[in-house]
Amino acid sequence: MSKKKRVLLTDESSGKELELPVVAGTEGEPTLDIKALPSTLGYFTYDPGFTATASCTSKITFIDGGKGILRYRGYPIEQLSERSTFLEVAYLLLNGELPSEAQLQKFRGEITYHTMVHEHLNEFISGFQYDAHPMAMMAGVVGSLAAFYHNRMDMESQEHRMVAAQRMIAKMPTIAAACYRHHMGWPTAYPQNSLRYCERFLHMMFSVPSEEYQVSEVSARVLDLLFILHADHEQNASTSTVRLVGSTGANPYACVAAGISALWGPAHGGANEAVLDMFTQIGDISNVPKFIKRAKDKSDPFRLMGFGHRVYKNFDPRATIIRQACYEVLEELGVNDPMMDMALELERIALEDEYFIEKKLYPNVDFYSGIIYRALGIPVSMFTVMFAIARTVGWVAQWLEQSNTPTKIGRPRQVYKGPTERKYEPPHSRR
Ligand code: ACO
Repeated sequence: MSKKKRVLLTDESSGKELELPVVAGTEGEPTLDIKALPSTLGYFTYDPGFTATASCTSKITFIDGGKGILRYRGYPIEQLSERSTFLEVAYLLLNGELPSEAQLQKFRGEITYHTMVHEHLNEFISGFQYDAHPMAMMAGVVGSLAAFYHNRMDMESQEHRMVAAQRMIAKMPTIAAACYRHHMGWPTAYPQNSLRYCERFLHMMFSVPSEEYQVSEVSARVLDLLFILHADHEQNASTSTVRLVGSTGANPYACVAAGISALWGPAHGGANEAVLDMFTQIGDISNVPKFIKRAKDKSDPFRLMGFGHRVYKNFDPRATIIRQACYEVLEELGVNDPMMDMALELERIALEDEYFIEKKLYPNVDFYSGIIYRALGIPVSMFTVMFAIARTVGWVAQWLEQSNTPTKIGRPRQVYKGPTERKYEPPHSRR
């Protein structure tokens, strides 16, 4: 009979002991269950940034940061990116298994059915300043979906929850394109349901009433690949935000709006925009060494955007795939982008530099994605929105998983460092 692993913790001051059970997953590091710690030894644990803390159990995505492994529901990202499609991956993440031909067709139909948004939502978008950042608009507009779909939604119904998930996957490209068109001053482009997911999005982004718009097959294919790579990444900052908000029982559209806000930051999804800003700032390949020097200088806040990752300390498998795709797409689309040369030079110097080697800093997925988006004609301010469209699948899959399991409200503790109790004095007697 196999013995359950436990770790013995001894409090030297009181002599008390506690056996902590080890929670074993199917793969990955063993994790200590510390729930009994406060009631038994009277301690909480301190882990800012959750660098050593698992917040949930999940069956969706597995990452081994040391080995550079990423798998959705057990399938390696390399296989999915080569052989699958974004919608098939979405089905997999939501349902746990790859679909049969018939299931995939039905799923496509369900997503396509929900692509339109209420006309009032377009009016809502028209209320934004023309130069509003699209991520700010996205957070507001997706949050407002809760106003359209709250009263009739039964949160206890698994079916209703699945429809909400599908609705978000379907409407996100429509909303994203509408935000872009508002900025451009173009009229609304309604979703063409005869087109596939990424084709439809590109059509809504770039078609204008005055001329024919033919969606480029190469562009749609590479977008599909980028969406697969970004679809989920277990408990990252935005997904953890969705789960935290979801743990309160909040409306799913509000949960995803919170995820969008978390994604916007330059340390997370905003990095793809920050990478392009950085390339612009560097300006010329000859300036690369100067910026590498700045990135290493502790007194300079400058960091190499698109470098480093909380989990991957060897290489980001998505970056390997996207780097190759970057070459192919630029060639197929006939784009000669000096930024690609700059990126390669930056990558070459950084990867040979002691500072980056020692700190295990490698290019992450965002280092290259911006170059591809640029080649597709996507403006820089929309880069993080692209990420949000893809990650919506992960957010809703994780939200569904959480909603299908009994969950405690997320409520971290703190180490209080403020004043101890003191007496209130009226203003006239304060110094
Ligand atoms: N450039 C220069 N130095 C860096 C960089 C960088 N990009 N990233 C980390 N470091 C250094 C830090 O200064 C720190 O040095 P120290 O130990 O001497 O203090 C050390 O490496 C560890 O960095 P942390 O910030 O503590 O690592 P953490 O795991 O908390 O952060 C993060 C990871 C946020 C991704 C960080 O590497 C970063 O800011 N990178 C740039 C932004 C970026 O590309 N984000 C995208 C992430 S991927 C995604 O969201 C899809």
